[in-house]
Amino acid sequence: MKLKYKPEELTKLPRSVEYKDKKVYLIDQKLLPWEFKVIHLSTVEQVAKAIKTMQVRGAPAIGAAAAFGLALYAERSKAETKDEFFDGFYRAYEILKNTRPTAVNLFWALNRIKNLVEEHREDSLDEIKRLIVEEAQRIADEDVEANLRMGHIGAEILPEGNVLTHCNAGSLATVHLGTVGAVLRVMHKEGKLNLLWVDETRPVLQGARLSAWEYHYDGIPLKLIADNMAGFVMQQGKVDAIIVGADRIVANGDFANKIGTYTLAVLAKEHGIPFFTVAPLSTIDMSLKSGKEIPIEERSREEVLTCGGCKIAPDVDVYNPAFDVTPHKYLTAIITDRGVVYPPFERNLKKLFEDLALE
Ligand code: MRU
Repeated sequence: MKLKYKPEELTKLPRSVEYKDKKVYLIDQKLLPWEFKVIHLSTVEQVAKAIKTMQVRGAPAIGAAAAFGLALYAERSKAETKDEFFDGFYRAYEILKNTRPTAVNLFWALNRIKNLVEEHREDSLDEIKRLIVEEAQRIADEDVEANLRMGHIGAEILPEGNVLTHCNAGSLATVHLGTVGAVLRVMHKEGKLNLLWVDETRPVLQGARLSAWEYHYDGIPLKLIADNMAGFVMQQGKVDAIIVGADRIVANGDFANKIGTYTLAVLAKEHGIPFFTVAPLSTIDMSLKSGKEIPIEERSREEVLTCGGCKIAPDVDVYNPAFDVTPHKYLTAIITDRGVVYPPFERNLKKLFEDLALE
């Protein structure tokens, strides 16, 4: 497919995650929308902490940040022997792996570098270090290319009109542009997006703090709603399509995404509204058969007991699953960087990977 637009024609935002001069640079997403600040990190532990505390968040962005964490280790390691270097490498790998459990991009990115390093075990230490940094950069660059492709593909198949989204699968959640973000930006550029409905996305407010901020920054017309308003807006006929990101799509098409996605999917079906997820191949985990197998992260009670830093409830017990699983029967299509997958998802996802293996 011919890509009409370049990333810089679609967003004014810079990349969310970058690596240069032996440092990882991140837009601190905990400070938005109050403050736009790029922070720089110089240890693996700092990168792991940034992922855990959600200074960097969104499946592809945490994958890229973790990859850059390994690049940081490689370039800063003082190991004198290969054995010493590999011991430290596996330690860094474990630290980064044990940050967030649901988004598969994290493990995909870390394993991609680990496999490469293991294949090159016999090379010189300098060569191995160079390969790690190069691969981490490639992971980030490929994410931008994948988003650009998904943006063009998605904008062709989504109906024109009003689109609703949940959480933030925009530029901030990826290296640049976003998954959902790329689709919305291409639609906007082509005059196909009348209005974007943005769910606030409690408890962490990725919709209100991040999506509303970044889409407004790029001039996309939007209205912010509290999560419990989405059903009424659909009933009023004000939503033509729903599009969300994904943290992990499994072999039968079930997928994990930000808590609240499942509710929207059920409501969409009731109102006959097409429901799409958009994600790069790095978000697809063919090793799991159904969504029931996806590990769902539970986060702290404080996230629910507070809102924007203010206490909003007494000290009661809390249940805080960060993600839910949407069964594939609610999905109209999965938009990937290698094309659109329609039902039956199990058969068509398998075919997509078989065809790719033949390329
Ligand atoms: O907990 P978060 O903010 O990392 O969750 C993010 C989401 O659920 C996104 O929709 C998903 O990662 C896709 S990002 C392109």
